[in-house]
Amino acid sequence: MKKLCFALAIFVMVACSHKTENKTANYKDPNAPIEERIEHLISLMTLDEKIMQMNQWTYGKNANPNNIGEKMREVSPEIGSLLYRSTNPEYRNQIQKKAITESRLGIPIIFGFDAIHGYRTIFPIPLAQASSWNTELVKTSSAITAKESWLSGLDWTFSPMVDVARDARWGRVSEGYGEDPYANSAFAVAAVQGYQGSNLNDKYTIAACLKHFIGYSLSEGGRDYHYSDISNQTLWETFMPPFEAGVNAGAATLMSSFNDISGIPASANHYTLTEVLKNKWKHDGFVVSDWGSVRNLVEQSVAEDLKEAAQKSFMAGIEMDMVDNAYIDYLPELVEEGKVPMTSIDEAVRRILRVKMKLGLFENPYVDVVSEKERYLLPEYLEIAEQLSAESFVLLKNENETLPITSKYKNLAIIGPMVKDSVHIMGFWEGMGRPQDVKTIYEGLEKEFKNKATLNYALGCDYDGEDKSGFNAAIQAANKSDAVIIFLGEKRHWSGENGSRSTIALPKIQEDLVEELKKTNKPIILMLSSGRPLELMKLEKMADAIVQIWQPGTMAGPAVAGLLSGRHNPSGKLAMTFPQTTGQIPIYYNMRQAARPTLGHYQDIPRDPLYWFGHGLSYTTYEYSEVKLSSKTITKKDTLIAEVTVSNTGNHDGKETVLWFIKDPFASISRPIKELKHFEKQTIKAGDKVVYRFEINPEHDLSFVDSEGNRHLENGDFYVIVNDQKVHFKLVD
Ligand code: BGC
Repeated sequence: MKKLCFALAIFVMVACSHKTENKTANYKDPNAPIEERIEHLISLMTLDEKIMQMNQWTYGKNANPNNIGEKMREVSPEIGSLLYRSTNPEYRNQIQKKAITESRLGIPIIFGFDAIHGYRTIFPIPLAQASSWNTELVKTSSAITAKESWLSGLDWTFSPMVDVARDARWGRVSEGYGEDPYANSAFAVAAVQGYQGSNLNDKYTIAACLKHFIGYSLSEGGRDYHYSDISNQTLWETFMPPFEAGVNAGAATLMSSFNDISGIPASANHYTLTEVLKNKWKHDGFVVSDWGSVRNLVEQSVAEDLKEAAQKSFMAGIEMDMVDNAYIDYLPELVEEGKVPMTSIDEAVRRILRVKMKLGLFENPYVDVVSEKERYLLPEYLEIAEQLSAESFVLLKNENETLPITSKYKNLAIIGPMVKDSVHIMGFWEGMGRPQDVKTIYEGLEKEFKNKATLNYALGCDYDGEDKSGFNAAIQAANKSDAVIIFLGEKRHWSGENGSRSTIALPKIQEDLVEELKKTNKPIILMLSSGRPLELMKLEKMADAIVQIWQPGTMAGPAVAGLLSGRHNPSGKLAMTFPQTTGQIPIYYNMRQAARPTLGHYQDIPRDPLYWFGHGLSYTTYEYSEVKLSSKTITKKDTLIAEVTVSNTGNHDGKETVLWFIKDPFASISRPIKELKHFEKQTIKAGDKVVYRFEINPEHDLSFVDSEGNRHLENGDFYVIVNDQKVHFKLVD
């Protein structure tokens, strides 16, 4: 009997062990479920191997002067990630081969880079992209960026930046989608879909990274890296929505930000990184720290040393340490001392491995190697680049139909530092874009106006400084011309990271140049290139027409020339308000109502900004019909249909974006004056009309969030606002 029991016990043990073996997939088995593969792999990893996965080193250098300190390191085959600053796919494959063949478990490296508005084909800066209101074009341009990046050895881009930005002194407004949470959400989704495609496993797709989580754009006074005092109400209402939308769209990763949020730096913030992102939103990918943001916790006075910084960042919910080596150096002892539990290490590694598995890196660790000609700047890419640039331009002013340039202008003065520029016109974070790829404005104009008008070029002045020696030549060029087109603007590093400015006006020398040219009594057309809204208090009065061209990238020339000739009809609308003066900041359309609405504004300037969010003219004219609602009263379960017909009553075909706002005049938490809830861009041929529609879903479009992130939908009055129409309806039980 004893023998029988023993035999039975052995049988049960063997059967059980077989059972476990069958159930636990091998991590190398591409057909096994991802989660099981991950568990198997984790069960094989040593603590050191796990910690290595949680680090990112750099390979090569980029042009960001803020990050140049980091030395290129000998790449370890065990490293989790590389910030890859080479365009060479073969190097990547060699490094990857080392990881696959020389590390004990053959875990592939994930290669990341900042392809922010293009890799080699440079598209307009994100703030410009948002001003196009064309999410499809943004999605397509992101897909092109993904393809160029993948073919250069990348799996991951640190984009999109979805920090809602309301202080134009902050240089990084150029990298995001402007002042509105809904617009940022819509473009976050478009960019994520473009980068990641329908399946991350597919060739040419790369993982997106929503950044900077969170509240970075509210750094005090627009000074980069500074403290940001954010109430929980503002956090939820303004900053969270784009991140939540990006997470719901499947963004594989996020990057934590540099700023200190009301005493708890974003890179040590358990509430935002774990309670919200992981627990509430169920994000299953990983968070990478921003460059040095773990180390910065010491500067920010919440960690005594790098070891404590590592502990705080890690326990808050940052799985990957970008370049600080804080995790490599200190996590082993933090685990040993019981300050960091092994379960948390496993969970962090699980998240990183999940992204690598989803990218298909275990099965296909290498990228295709094709020639540069097949990789970059393909004609269809350039076409999209021109289209997106042209659609992002905003015609701010056009007195007496100064634009477009018709045959009445035979001689054109082309003046300014931006005319022949091929560097600043690409903007900050120009990826691997090269000046020699850029079609300059001058080249574009020469081609566009060949045999139509004579171009009289003069530099006029530099971007800044006091040298006026070029003014005379500019005046002479103006004197022999029928119109004066002046290309002014900002250098690329005046915006972007660490690109804060105390004034958003252009340097005095540029304003002086315009003042001199104005004296020639010729029509003055200002073409402004910048990474932020500008203060145009002085310039606006002197100009007959003004076009904001932002930083358009590789196809600047053809896009600008096409706009001037009328080949491109402007259709951009501002994604960020242009204040009267720098002192008027912050000013944005969805402010809260003042207690005394007609009072309290600055006494020395007009109450309104110079150009509101949404402002933008066209060469044609549009007429809006009366907005029609399907009902005047709805319940929470109904959908309300709002429609407006827009007619193109002018002589040019055009594209018009209808911006739909909702106003909630009374609620238990005060509401903004109005809030964008939907937008749509459509082509309307001259003489034609098109119907625009907004399906209002009460839960989605009429509710608001409280300071804990809970949504509330309260009955009462509402308004739909389109242009100057404001139509009332009621939400009832
Ligand atoms: C920036 C990030 C960027 C990272 C890597 C940091 O300085 O803040 O936006 O992704 O560098 O280059």
